[in-house]
Amino acid sequence: MLEISPRKRLSGEITVPGDKSVSHRAVLFGSIADGVTKISNFLNGQDCVSTISCFKSMGIDIKTDGYEVFVSGRGMRGLKAPDTVLYTGNSGTTTRLLTGLLAAQSFDSVIDGDDSIRTRPMDRVIKPLSMMGADIIPSDGGRCPLRIKGKKLNGIEYTLPVPSAQVKSAVILAGLYADGETVIIENIKSRNHTELMLGMFGSDCGMSDGIIRVRHTDKLNAAEIDIPGDISSAAFFMVAGLLSENSEIILRNVGINPTRSGIITVLRNMGGDIMIENIRGDFEPSADIIVRSSDLSGTEISGDIIPSLIDEIPAIAAAAAFATGKTVISGASELKHKETDRIKSIVSELKKANVDIFETADGFIINGGNPVRASEFDSFGDHRIAMAMSVLALNARGTSVIKNHEACGVSYPGFYEDLFSLTR
Ligand code: S3P
Repeated sequence: MLEISPRKRLSGEITVPGDKSVSHRAVLFGSIADGVTKISNFLNGQDCVSTISCFKSMGIDIKTDGYEVFVSGRGMRGLKAPDTVLYTGNSGTTTRLLTGLLAAQSFDSVIDGDDSIRTRPMDRVIKPLSMMGADIIPSDGGRCPLRIKGKKLNGIEYTLPVPSAQVKSAVILAGLYADGETVIIENIKSRNHTELMLGMFGSDCGMSDGIIRVRHTDKLNAAEIDIPGDISSAAFFMVAGLLSENSEIILRNVGINPTRSGIITVLRNMGGDIMIENIRGDFEPSADIIVRSSDLSGTEISGDIIPSLIDEIPAIAAAAAFATGKTVISGASELKHKETDRIKSIVSELKKANVDIFETADGFIINGGNPVRASEFDSFGDHRIAMAMSVLALNARGTSVIKNHEACGVSYPGFYEDLFSLTR
């Protein structure tokens, strides 16, 4: 539980921690590559720590030194049968990517996670993997725990029914082990970190717009992976900087992969003063982002841009509460399947703050501009709800309380230190 009083101004600079999606993948591919993979700017959040511990349970030697991680890969067939349940904590990415990888191993395994993971749909990965020949027995309703019998798999052609990078990545991973070619068709683009990282590990898988071709792969080579800052973490500071008066903040080394950067487009459309400088990096581009106080107006968000900002919708909702006019978010029913049902979490918590918000079938509508009142907000254990409500509280009238604020440790352990280092 944390109290937050309104602050007038934000200034200074921070470097947000490494990208969560990229950190998971670097450990995963490092574990099945030959040689030692060096990862810099690794995210030491609870989710990525869960990924490390799962691979350690499968015999991989992983050493952490601050933000550097050294993964001693044992090759494509080097994982050992775990002698315990692989516990993925709160991490959907660990759970779904591991399912794809484990389906193709020569041993059996069981994956389980926390109460939130046990509510999240796993049938979306079980279905394509079963088409490949996988043997995965879920608990009731296609949920965790999952009992996976390692099998020989065959390539398939699969059109993703939902734009999900976790599903895509699970099928890519299984495809690396399968006989024949695996073809994945994406009608709406989801984040492409797995495809980019495979290139870093020397895979010759072919990618063209919307079609990913994966071939059986006997060997990946260890790589040096420098992880950019997580734009999903930076999003909370972008919104905080725009909302606070007379503010200017600099966010250093933020990943701006186009499959992730929809938040910048949307906040600019709302009238946000956001500048991008010093673009660098060829694997995953990053940049410095300068944010200045702005008067925001409502906007409409729907369609193909949704996957590129799906994790930022809690932050966008906080911005919309202070914007003039209506913000409509639609086509975002995937929010129901995140760490919490984020449509419900956002609507219930913003209502407490006197925000005029109502739930729709696949999103919500906010009529911005009501005075935003302090309240006792609950994160429901969802990291992004904790951080979104904290940013809202900074600008609300009165002192707020954030219950379960420590949930931010899933993706951003130092969030509150960074936030309060900017408040004046
Ligand atoms: C992620 C993909 C997205 C995202 C999640 C991380 C990934 O989920 O919301 O936080 O690293 O692949 P979906 O695949 O369910 O869209």
